[in-house]
Amino acid sequence: MTEFVRNQWYVAAYGSEVGRELLGRTILGEPIVFYRTENGEVVALADRCVHRRFPLSQSRLEGDHVVCGYHGFTYDTSGTCVSVPGQNRVPRTARVPAYRVVEQDSFVWVWIGERERADSTPIPRAPWLDDERYTVVRGMEPLAARYDLLVDNLLDLSHETYLHGGYIGTPEVAETPITTEVDEENRVVYVSRHMADAACPRFYSRSTGIEGRITRWQDIEYTPPCLYLLHSRIAPVGVLPNDDGTDPDAFHVEVVYAITPETENTTHDFWAVARDFALGDEEVTEFLRENNHTVVMQDVVALDLLEKVVAQEADEYQELSVNIDTGGLAARRMLRQMAEEGRGAAAAQARAVRS
Ligand code: FES
Ligand SMILES: [Fe+2]
Repeated sequence: MTEFVRNQWYVAAYGSEVGRELLGRTILGEPIVFYRTENGEVVALADRCVHRRFPLSQSRLEGDHVVCGYHGFTYDTSGTCVSVPGQNRVPRTARVPAYRVVEQDSFVWVWIGERERADSTPIPRAPWLDDERYTVVRGMEPLAARYDLLVDNLLDLSHETYLHGGYIGTPEVAETPITTEVDEENRVVYVSRHMADAACPRFYSRSTGIEGRITRWQDIEYTPPCLYLLHSRIAPVGVLPNDDGTDPDAFHVEVVYAITPETENTTHDFWAVARDFALGDEEVTEFLRENNHTVVMQDVVALDLLEKVVAQEADEYQELSVNIDTGGLAARRMLRQMAEEGRGAAAAQARAVRS
């Protein structure tokens, strides 16, 4: 499997999931408890009491403090223990790690790696999720598969024709060649597939009301490791954007995935669909929510199966790649590079500490 890339921001939750109830969630193998202070700030602490390891997520909030549900050690928002039972003196080492968090684009992003790198590492954007010009449906599915299988899946949409036939797949998706571009400097992988004349899957005919064939564009923008965007453009056949870039006669759907490893073999699969049409139309919203959830579950079932296969195979097993895999292979290479750099930085830090 691809090693974790630690020095990057990851989506831990939707902002709407974090409130005055304690939320436990494991990110990159680290159990974390999330909550909101009375002022609405998100706090993220290690989900393990320093005393006897009781999960703080199974404890309770008192004001902005977490009171451990086992023997009552009490922590402030920085993870410092401010009270222990039966004695006045709080041991100096009584603290749990606190994680950096940022709320952006309706997500709660968390930083797991070396603290001093957080500020200089940009958080990729998905502005449609928090923009009143779009109506959004969203969810999160737990995946019993390593995160790189989801990266592979999302970067090669030819699988729509087969795995999602009748939902978002039509023959043209698999038939139309892709173009792939890799921006090494900014670390983005672009994969595009423009179908000039394609059947309209029900997902789009029902939601847009277009009858007949469509011009369908899929432009993927993947910022490894966590954020995946699919800019989907649907228009009646032959309708193209204007020369000045405006595009009033097309329908735009921004499909957003946040791919967050939970453990080495499990993943948080955050998905959202933002549309710039039928705003506030509850029927369209429900249709897209249900259909997209079905599509996500088709992937989940396939990837959970794949994980079982991959987990059992011999190390020397060689898979075969073809043209449709170009984007996925570029993403894998970038993820490997980023993981190696992280290892290099950790080793340099260890050397600096020793010397
Ligand atoms: S385990 Fe938390 S107070 Fe004892
Ligand atoms: Fe899929």
